[in-house]
Amino acid sequence: MDQLSAIIIGANSALSQALALQLINDNVRLGLMAADTDALAPLMDKLPDNAELVAIDIFDPEACRSAFSQLWDTLDGAALVVINTAASGLDLSLPYALDKQINAVNVEGFTALANAAFTQMVEQKYGQLAAFTSIAGERGGPQIAFHASKAYQQNYLQGLRLHAQRLKLPITISDIRLGYIDKMQGRGSKTWGGSLDKISSQIIRALRKAKPQVYVTRRWRFISWLTRALPEFIYNKRKYK
Ligand SMILES: NC(=O)c1ccc[n+]([C@@H]2O[C@H](COP(=O)([O-])OP(=O)(O)OC[C@H]3O[C@@H](n4cnc5c(N)ncnc54)[C@H](OP(=O)(O)O)[C@@H]3O)[C@@H](O)[C@H]2O)c1
Repeated sequence: MDQLSAIIIGANSALSQALALQLINDNVRLGLMAADTDALAPLMDKLPDNAELVAIDIFDPEACRSAFSQLWDTLDGAALVVINTAASGLDLSLPYALDKQINAVNVEGFTALANAAFTQMVEQKYGQLAAFTSIAGERGGPQIAFHASKAYQQNYLQGLRLHAQRLKLPITISDIRLGYIDKMQGRGSKTWGGSLDKISSQIIRALRKAKPQVYVTRRWRFISWLTRALPEFIYNKRKYK
């Protein structure tokens, strides 16, 4: 491979697009996977001609795996794979349909793609797999299935990390634990929300340092510690809208 390649899964998200733009500055060839490829036309206009775009239906895990494998072959492998496909939702009436949808995306879809990426990296004998999880995965919370599914992802990534070590292969597994993304670009909560620029820069820095786990933005490491330390009788008294 003359030029390093990276695959971003869930490319429609504003965060994925910010990351894509940072990666091309580092002369990385991009392979993007997304549900709605038409919506990515404005981003594709900003990318070099050798960027690849592939449509996926995250609700069809087998098809996602073969699309991933084809993209991998087209790029002749990839040094980095970022999984950013995730569903969330809060409905205090707890409809099963919502939990089912979140699990289909965050557990089944995630597993299909993380497994596909890891398997290819084992064959390639190196690589970095990064996924955006959340501090929500560290303790149960109001978006019940979302919290639980992020805990699953964190645990799965830890397992892959152990497995890479067992295989003695230089495969880095990065669990990027996000706090809150200010998608309103400064108009959201300034206390908790990180801007996309700040978040994507911190992510790129963590990826370069091959960090196994990182909190983005950094202040969420403290919130995470506090959330985990709170005794149950206090934690359970939190009020949700
Ligand atoms: N937003 C936050 O404040 C926050 C906080 C903590 C953690 N996170 C995590 O950080 C990552 C990025 O967050 P984000 O807010 O930028 O994510 P997002 O835009 O809501 O979703 C990321 C991608 O997931 C896919 N997706 C979203 N909802 C879906 C659904 N209902 N069914 C199927 N696919 C769906 C889309 O993929 P396509 O591109 O293929 O359409 C989308 O581009 C996610 O893993 C999220 O869980 C976010």
